[in-house]
Amino acid sequence: MRTAFAALGVAFTLSAMTGLATSVSAASLTVGFSQIGSESGWRAAETTVTKQEAEKRGIDLKFADAQQKQENQIKAIRGFIAQGVDAILIAPVVATGWDAVLKEAKEENIPVILLDREIESPKDLYLTAVTSDQVHEGKVAGDWLVKDIGSKDCKVVELQGTTGSSPAINRKKGFEEAIKAASNIKIVRSQTGDFTRTKGKEVMESFIKAEGGGKDICAVYAHNDDMAVGAIQAIKEAGLKPGTDIKIVSIDAVPDIFQAMAKGEANATVELTPNMAGPAFDALEAYLKDKKEPPKWIQTESKLFTANDDPMKVYESKKGLGY
Ligand code: AHR
Repeated sequence: MRTAFAALGVAFTLSAMTGLATSVSAASLTVGFSQIGSESGWRAAETTVTKQEAEKRGIDLKFADAQQKQENQIKAIRGFIAQGVDAILIAPVVATGWDAVLKEAKEENIPVILLDREIESPKDLYLTAVTSDQVHEGKVAGDWLVKDIGSKDCKVVELQGTTGSSPAINRKKGFEEAIKAASNIKIVRSQTGDFTRTKGKEVMESFIKAEGGGKDICAVYAHNDDMAVGAIQAIKEAGLKPGTDIKIVSIDAVPDIFQAMAKGEANATVELTPNMAGPAFDALEAYLKDKKEPPKWIQTESKLFTANDDPMKVYESKKGLGY
């Protein structure tokens, strides 16, 4: 618990004094993790990887699943503060409304690290944020579509992530930036599917109804793969061919989208690593060792995968990773 800070400090000081190479060990640290929920395959993998990373490092991880509700996250964070944990990881469901609880953590000198989503709070209220560049992710998806479609007229339907979440805001922005110069490509419908497969399917069904039974739709842009998988199902049930009649581009790179790609039912995805905890724990350990502040943003990579990337091989490499 909190005394682990001091214990670690002593260990590091001793090793510095003796000159003996002591590896930075996080053993005896207690870290609280407020997770959003399990809305997507990607989120399930992030939870698995975080637990594995903690175990590997001997960190006692206190896990709280917020069932998609910010109020549950705030309650869990207050619980972690009351328990006197050494640090708190938060995957924030929405971007606003965190200032008060983060101030409470700061008053208790508990460092907070954000995982996979950004917030609109003063930066001094958290140690660092490990996230992708979500505007860039949307841009990569949009650039792919612009190139793939060429000069053809293209009506796009967009499945947005959770309203008010940073990936929903930023992935929309990046995609719109990418297609801005292509006057042949237009977003004709855009609605939240809350990052889930079920809602992605439901919303896609309503888009299909509204757009001439789907024949007027040229592409789906989904803010995550799970919603894309739901949309693929809806397109098939409407008697159309996903991947051919309607192009599918999304974000995450979960194993299921590679299976869909291998069948020709999806076209492109932008990878988001589920390993946010590795860089987060590295930053925390370094901070505890010598109080060196990490950068405020630790950026993860955003790589484009298309059907040309041997989807079954990628599927095989990812399928056992907790998605
Ligand atoms: O914040 C990351 C996003 O949240 C993932 O892209 C999505 O699948 C998840 O639910």
